[in-house]
Amino acid sequence: MNAFEINKILGAVLGTCLLIVAVHIAAGAIFTQPAPAKAGYEIALKEEQPAQKQGATAAAPAGQSIDALLATASPEQGAKIAKVCQTCHNLQEGKGAKVGPDLYGVVGRPVASVASFKYSAALKAKGGTWTFDALDKWLTNPRADVPGTAMTFAGLSNIKQRADVIAYLDTLSAKPLPTAAQSAPAKPAAAAAASPPAGASPAPSGTAGSTPKPQ
Ligand code: HEC
Repeated sequence: MNAFEINKILGAVLGTCLLIVAVHIAAGAIFTQPAPAKAGYEIALKEEQPAQKQGATAAAPAGQSIDALLATASPEQGAKIAKVCQTCHNLQEGKGAKVGPDLYGVVGRPVASVASFKYSAALKAKGGTWTFDALDKWLTNPRADVPGTAMTFAGLSNIKQRADVIAYLDTLSAKPLPTAAQSAPAKPAAAAAASPPAGASPAPSGTAGSTPKPQ
C-alpha cells in the first residue's frame, strides 16, 4: 500500500465524517422541537368555551366571584371535566387516597384533613376550609395558590370550568353546601332570605307550593 492509497482511504473516511456532520446539522435545524415554556406535564383539556368568554377567562381578576357562576354551573359538565382529577383522586365515598387524597365531601372540609394522607408541608400550612372561593383559587393554579404543594396539576384557567367542577364536587357529599348562600357578605339581603334560622316559627313559605296565589 503506498502513501497515495492511504491518502485516498483517509480522504474517503474524512469525507464521510463531514457528510454525517452536515446531515446531523441539517436534521437538527429541521426537526428541533421548541423547549416547553413550563417544565412538567400539562394535562390537556378540551376547552369548549364560547368565543366571547375568552377575555374573561384568563386569570380571573381579583374580586370576580365564583358564586354568580355557581348558580348556573353544570355539575354534569363538571363530572366530565373531573375525569382529569381522577387520574390522581378518588371521588367516591370511602375509596381512599390515590396520588392525592379522596375528594368525596371535600367542599366544606378543612384543608389537608384526611388523616391517612401524607400532605405536603405547604398544604398543611395553608389552613382554613375548602369553601367555594378557596377551591376556585386553588383550581385556577394550585402551585400559585400554595407554592410547594404536591399537586402537580396545571390548573383550570377557565372560570366556567372551575365553576362546573366545583358544582360537581359539591354533589359528592351527604350534605352539599348551598351554592348561593356561601361567602356572600356583599349580598346580606339575599343571604338572610336564603337561610332563615332553623327552628324559626313555621314559615309561611312552607305551604307556598300548594297554595293558590291570593287574588
Ligand atoms: C397529577 C395528580 C393530580 C391531579 C391531576 C389533580 N390533583 Fe388534586 N391533589 C393532588 C395531590 C398530590 C394533592 C395533595 C397536595 C399536597 O399535599 O400538597 C392534591 C390535593 C387536592 C385538594 C386538597 C384536598 C385536601 O384534602 O385538602 C383538592 C381540593 C384537589 N386536589 C382537587 C383536585 C381537583 C378538583 C382536580 C381536577 C380538576 C385535581 N385535584 C387534580 C394530585 C392531583
